[in-house]
Amino acid sequence: MDSKRAVVHVLAVIIGIFSLFCSSCCRHLQEDQPVVHHHIQARRRLSLSAPAVTFDVDDFGAQGDGNHDDAQAFEKAWKEACSAAGAVLVVPKKNYLLGPTNFSGPCQDNTTFQINGIIRASGDLSDYDEDRRHWIMFDGVHNLVVQGGGTFDGNGLIWWQNSCKTNKSLPCKDAPTALTFSNCGNLITRNLNIQNAQQIHVSFEKCSDVQATDLQVTAPGSSPNTDGIHVTGTQNIQISSSTIGTGDDCISIVDGSQDVQAMDITCGPGHGISIGSLGSGDSEAHVSGVTVNRANFSGTTNGVRIKTWQGGSGSASNIKFQNIEMHDVSNPIIIDQNYCDQDAPCKQQKSAVQVSNVMYQNIRGTSASDVAIEFNCSESLPCKGIALQNIDLQKTGGGSATASCSNINPDYIGAVSPRCP
Ligand SMILES: *[C@@H]1O[C@H](CO)[C@@H](O)[C@H](O)[C@H]1NC(C)=O
Ligand SMILES: *[C@@H]1O[C@H](CO)[C@@H](O)[C@H](O)[C@H]1NC(C)=O
Ligand SMILES: *[C@@H]1O[C@H](CO)[C@@H](O)[C@H](O)[C@H]1NC(C)=O
Ligand SMILES: *[C@@H]1O[C@H](CO)[C@@H](O)[C@H](O)[C@H]1NC(C)=O
Ligand SMILES: *[C@@H]1O[C@H](CO)[C@@H](O)[C@H](O)[C@H]1NC(C)=O
Repeated sequence: MDSKRAVVHVLAVIIGIFSLFCSSCCRHLQEDQPVVHHHIQARRRLSLSAPAVTFDVDDFGAQGDGNHDDAQAFEKAWKEACSAAGAVLVVPKKNYLLGPTNFSGPCQDNTTFQINGIIRASGDLSDYDEDRRHWIMFDGVHNLVVQGGGTFDGNGLIWWQNSCKTNKSLPCKDAPTALTFSNCGNLITRNLNIQNAQQIHVSFEKCSDVQATDLQVTAPGSSPNTDGIHVTGTQNIQISSSTIGTGDDCISIVDGSQDVQAMDITCGPGHGISIGSLGSGDSEAHVSGVTVNRANFSGTTNGVRIKTWQGGSGSASNIKFQNIEMHDVSNPIIIDQNYCDQDAPCKQQKSAVQVSNVMYQNIRGTSASDVAIEFNCSESLPCKGIALQNIDLQKTGGGSATASCSNINPDYIGAVSPRCP
C-alpha cells in the first residue's frame, strides 16, 4: 500500500468509527429538532451537521424577467436562509434586476448563496438616493459561501457617463460599489463573474479569513474608478485564480490590511495591482504582509505599485512581488511616495508613510515606457530594505529600459536589469 492509499484507508476507518458513534446522537438531534415547515421545497443534506434547507428566490416572489425589481424577494429569501442553519439560497438561471440590496447577518451558520443566473443592477439613479455607495452588500455575515458560476452586472454605463473623471464639468460624486462584503469572517467567494460595476467591483471591508477564487472581473478599460478587487481593513485574505480587467486597479490593498495573498492573477486592462494609496489627507495607514505570486499583466498602466501621499504616516511593510510576467506595461515596477491624485499640486511635507522590506523576485517582460522601474521615495523617509532579484525588463519592441531612483538604495540579487543609475 502506498502512503496516499494508507492515509485514505486510515481516514475511512476513522470516519466509519465516528459515524457509528454518532448515528445515535444524530438521530437524537433530529428527533429533538422541530420539523422545518415552510411553503418551499426543503431538503436535508447528507451530513452530520444541521440539515440543509434550500431557499429559492423565485419562491419568495422573484420574477427574473430582467425588468421587475426583485430586491424585496431576495431580501425575504435571505432573511429565511440566514435564520436557518446550513441554508442554501438559490438564484436560478434567469435574469434578475435588483436595486440596492442588503444581506445582513449574523446568520445561523454556514450559509451558501448559490448564484446560477444573472443579477443586474437597476440603472435608475434615483433608486440609490438613500445610499449612493453600495449596490449589493453583505454585512456582518460569518461562514458564508457565495458561488455558482453566475454573474453580478453593475450596469455601470450611466454612472461612468456621470462621472467627473469622464466629464470634467460634472461634480465628483460617489458611485456604488457593486459587491461589498463588510464585517465578515470566514468567507468564500468562488466561481463568479462580476462585470461593469458602477465603481469598485468587489470590496472586502473589515473582514477576516477570506478566500476569493475563480473570479472573472470585467469592465471596459475606459470606465472610471472601476477597481476590480478592493481590500481594506481586512486580515488573512487569499485572492487566487482570477482574471481582472477594468478601468482602474485590478487589486487595490489599503489601510488596515494584513496578510493578503494574490496568486495566479491575470490583470489587464487596468492600473495594475496597488498597495495604496495610503496616507491621503495626512492620515495614518498600515499595510503589512502582502504577497503577489504568479501574476500576468498585459497592457496595464502599472504592474506592481506602492503609492503613498506626502503628509501621511504609518507603514507599508513586508511585501513580496514574485514570479510575474509583464506585457507592454507602462510602469512595471513602481514605488511612489509622492503620489498626488488631485487637481491642486501637493506641497512638500516631512511626514510620510514608511515603505520597508519589499522584495521583487523573478519579474520579466516588457515595459511600454523607457522607465521600467521607478522608485520615487520620500526625501525625509527613504524606502528601506528593498531588494530586487532576477529581474529582466526590456522595452516593448526591443531595446533596454531604465530605472529611475530617488531616496532608495536597493539590494541586488542575481541578474537584475535595469538597475538604478
Ligand atoms: C459549518 O461548517 C463547518 C466547516 O465545514 C463545520 O465544521 C460545521 O459543523 C458546520 N456547522 C453547521 C451548523 O452546519
Ligand atoms: C444598507 O445598509 C447601509 C449601511 O448599513 C444603509 O446605509 C443602506 O441604507 C441600506 N440599504 C438598503 C437598501 O437597505
Ligand atoms: C458634461 O456635463 C455637462 C453638464 O451636465 C453637459 O452639459 C455636457 O453635455 C456633458 N458633456 C458630455 C460630453 O457628455
Ligand atoms: C500572459 O499573458 C500574455 C498576453 O495575454 C500571454 O501571451 C501569455 O501566454 C500569458 N502567460 C502565461 C504564463 O499565462
Ligand atoms: C517624483 O514624484 C514627483 C511628484 O509626482 C515628481 O514631481 C518627480 O518628478 C518624481 N521624481 C522622479 C525622479 O521621477
